[in-house]
Amino acid sequence: MEKILEKVLRRVKPKKLDRERLKKVADGLVKRADDACSELGVEARAMLVGSAARRTWLRDERDIDIFILFPENLPREELERKGLEVAGKVAGRRGREQFAEHPYVTMKFKGFDIDLVPCYDISDPSKIQSAVDRSPHHQRYVEARLTPELTDEVLLLKQFLTGIGAYGAELQVQGFSGYLAELLTLNYGSFRGVVGAASTWEPGVVLDLRGKYPDLEEARALFTGQPLTVIDPVDPNRNVAAAVSMQNFATFVRACQSFLNNPGERFFFPKPVKLLTSRQMSWVLKQRGTTLFCIVFDRPDLVPDITYPQLRKTERALVTKLTRAGFWVLRSDVWSNGKALLLLELSIAELPRVRAHPGPPVTVKAEDFISKHLRSKHKLAGPFIDEAGRLTFEVEREHARGREILEKALEERTAFGKHVAKSLAKGYKIYDGQRVLALARRNKGIRRFLSGYLTRCLPWHR
Ligand code: CTP
Ligand code: MG
Repeated sequence: MEKILEKVLRRVKPKKLDRERLKKVADGLVKRADDACSELGVEARAMLVGSAARRTWLRDERDIDIFILFPENLPREELERKGLEVAGKVAGRRGREQFAEHPYVTMKFKGFDIDLVPCYDISDPSKIQSAVDRSPHHQRYVEARLTPELTDEVLLLKQFLTGIGAYGAELQVQGFSGYLAELLTLNYGSFRGVVGAASTWEPGVVLDLRGKYPDLEEARALFTGQPLTVIDPVDPNRNVAAAVSMQNFATFVRACQSFLNNPGERFFFPKPVKLLTSRQMSWVLKQRGTTLFCIVFDRPDLVPDITYPQLRKTERALVTKLTRAGFWVLRSDVWSNGKALLLLELSIAELPRVRAHPGPPVTVKAEDFISKHLRSKHKLAGPFIDEAGRLTFEVEREHARGREILEKALEERTAFGKHVAKSLAKGYKIYDGQRVLALARRNKGIRRFLSGYLTRCLPWHR
C-alpha cells in the first residue's frame, strides 16, 4: 500500500512551481482586495481561505477562495452592497455576480477560478449570520493543526474521494467537502487511519473532535437521520457532513473496505466511463429489455445548486406517479448542462387493461360501491371477495401505457420543482426506447450521461 500511496501523492501534490504560481496570484488578489477596501473607504479586509490557504489543493485544481471580512455590526444590506462593490472593483469586467445564501463574485483569472466572498468577521462562530461566516474560523482551526505530513494525508483522502465520485458538498454531488476531508484526517491522524475507521462505519456515526458533547447521544439526537455527523469544531450546532447522502456514505464505506482488501491506484484514478457508440447503446437497451423515457427540455437558468434539487424533486414526483399507477420504475436519473434531462426506466411499457379495484372492508356498508361499479361500463368482473376478504371489482384501467401517465403528469406538474415546472410548461420532448440514440448522437454530454447510466458501476470496478 505504501508504494501506491507514494505514487498517488506524486501525481496529486502540487509542485514547488505550482505552489509559487498560486501564491503569487492569491497574494496579488488579497492585496488588490485590501487596496479596493481602502480606496472605497470600506472598513473590511481580505483573507485567503479554503484549500489554497491550507495547501490542501490537488494539483489539477484551480480554485482560490478569497473572503472579504466586514465588521459584524454592519447591517446585512450594507454588507451585500459594499461587498459586491469591493469584489466588483477587484474583478473588474471578468467578474460575475452569483447568488447563493448571499451574493458573491466569481471570476476566471490567470487560469484560476476565483471566488470573492463578502462575509462577517464574527468573534463567536456559533453566532454566525450566514454559513460563509464560518470559513475564516475553519481557516484558523485547520491552519493551526495541519502539519506538512498531515497535508499529504489530506491530499490522498481528497483524491480518493474524487476517484470514487464522492468529493464535493454541492447538491449535485452530495458528498464530502474539502473541510470534511481535513477534519477526518485530523481526527484519525492519517489517510490509512481514516480508511481503516471508515471501513467499519455504520450509518449514524458521530465524530466530535473537540468533545463539545459530553454525551454523544445528545449529538445523535440533534443530528438524527444523518448517516454521518462530524461536529464542526468551530460551531457545535453544525454538522460538517450534513451534505453527505446515504448513497455517498455507503459508497465511501464500501470503497474503504475494498481498498483495504485489495489496494490499488484504481480507487484514486478510476477508468473514465466508456462512451458507448450508437450500436453499443442500441444493443444494451435491447439486452435490458426495459422501457426508457428521456424527457428533454430547456434548462432553467439557475446555478446547479438550485437546478439539481429541483430536478431530483421532479424525478421523485414522476416516479411516485408511475408507481401509484402500477408501474415499476427500475431506475431513474437526472442530468443538466446545456439542456435538462429526466430519465426514467420502466420494467414494462404497458400494463394489462384490467386492474383490481378493492372496496370497503366487511365492517363498512358497500351497497353504493357495488351499484356504482355494476352500472359502470368499465367493469370487467365482479363483485367478488378476494382472499384477503375484500370486496373487489376488476375494472378497466384508465391509462395502461407508461407514456400516458408520464404525459399526464407533465401536463399537471404537481409536486415538481418550481423552476423546472416553469421550463417544462414552455415545452419538452419525450424520447423513448431506441429513439434516445438520436439524442445521444446529437449531444456529446447526453451521450456521456446515457453511457454512464447504462453501464452504471462503482468507479473502481470499471
Ligand atoms: N465550506 C464549508 N462547507 C461547505 C463548503 C465550504 O464549510 N460545504 C467552507 C470551508 O471553510 C471551506 C471554504 O468554505 O474551506 C471554501 O470552500 P471550498 O472552496 O468549497 O472548499 P475547499 O476547502 O477550498 O476545498 P477545494 O479544494 O475543493 O476547493
Ligand atoms: Mg476552495
